[in-house]
Amino acid sequence: MTAGGDCPGLNATIRAVAKTAIYRYGLEVVGVEDGFLGLIEGRVHPLGPREVSGILTRGGTVLGSNNRANPARQFVGLDAKGKPRHEDLRHRCVETVERAGLDAVVVIGGDGTMSGASRLVECGINVIGIPKTIDNDLVGSEISIGFLTAVATATEAIDKLHSTAESHHRVMVCEVMGRNAGWIALTSGVASGSDVILLPELPFQWDFITEFIDGRRRHGPGFAIVVVAEGARPRDGEQVVAQVDVSSADPIRLGGIGAVVAHEISARTGLETRTTVLGHVQRGGAPIAADRVLATNFGFAAVSALMNGARNRLIVRQRQTYADIDLLACADRQRTVPLGDPLLDAARAVGTSLGAPLEIPAGGPTPSVIC
Ligand code: F6P
Repeated sequence: MTAGGDCPGLNATIRAVAKTAIYRYGLEVVGVEDGFLGLIEGRVHPLGPREVSGILTRGGTVLGSNNRANPARQFVGLDAKGKPRHEDLRHRCVETVERAGLDAVVVIGGDGTMSGASRLVECGINVIGIPKTIDNDLVGSEISIGFLTAVATATEAIDKLHSTAESHHRVMVCEVMGRNAGWIALTSGVASGSDVILLPELPFQWDFITEFIDGRRRHGPGFAIVVVAEGARPRDGEQVVAQVDVSSADPIRLGGIGAVVAHEISARTGLETRTTVLGHVQRGGAPIAADRVLATNFGFAAVSALMNGARNRLIVRQRQTYADIDLLACADRQRTVPLGDPLLDAARAVGTSLGAPLEIPAGGPTPSVIC
């Protein structure tokens, strides 16, 4: 089952799970359609070698996904006062699992999905989680499927903004996804040599940014590239919310900070600014080679763990090796960029502004492995 927002590498993961289960262990595999919604509605279909053949390189998910469904608290409409009504529909998921004769459900998802899955565990369903999210914010795993492709997409886009910024002596602000985690902004910002990188983890200061950009105008090239994570906010301000969807298990959609940053830089420096919001482009398209390999390793590790008797575990990658940890320990938590991450310090060392002074926490840098 694939649940939550899609990302590149889901099909590669489905293929790895199904092929390992079929070829190595002689198991029967079914696919759940549209995430938790399919589990609630009893929509499953057989996944044989034919169904998973030729999908390794394809973006999206052949199973479909849904980031609104939440079995323990499913939105079922509005009450007379316009307030959302929810129902616990986990018994329907149990019925689906029993009817299909499933020993376990391999759930490919992010933190919201793992929270939903942890509520199914309470009903006796054995869940094995595989981390996927372009946000890379799943607790316990140093990397999630989809992240590296999203970074590659963002980097390519920012590279293109670079040449046009230079020609017009403009400030280009590029807003990237990531919710409350700045992994995409930090990694694509460093990879593209961006001048300013703004992260949710380090609230920025307007003066700090504008003095830096002004300095570039006076002493260097008269253009600048600013990468801003959708969850970033000024020290004295709030995150910008684009949409609130009460029917969704995760109602808040962030977005719009890019335009705010561009407007403020222009007002304070007089420089011409433009904003680009990369949006769902970051989630689309074929996975890069690294994500295909990651997906294959994760899928293989999930089925191997299952056959070794694992129950309710999340497969994780830690220091380049695959392990499994308690699924319940990762629910309702997010892995954000620690201020001691060495990549932050490296970014500063090469002259990038993080929009605010960075105080590295006592105890030195936090080890992290991305690339
Ligand atoms: O979690 C992945 C993600 O793409 C976030 O980066 C983004 O904030 C959110 O999903 C967008 O969700 P939706 O698909 O509902 O617009």
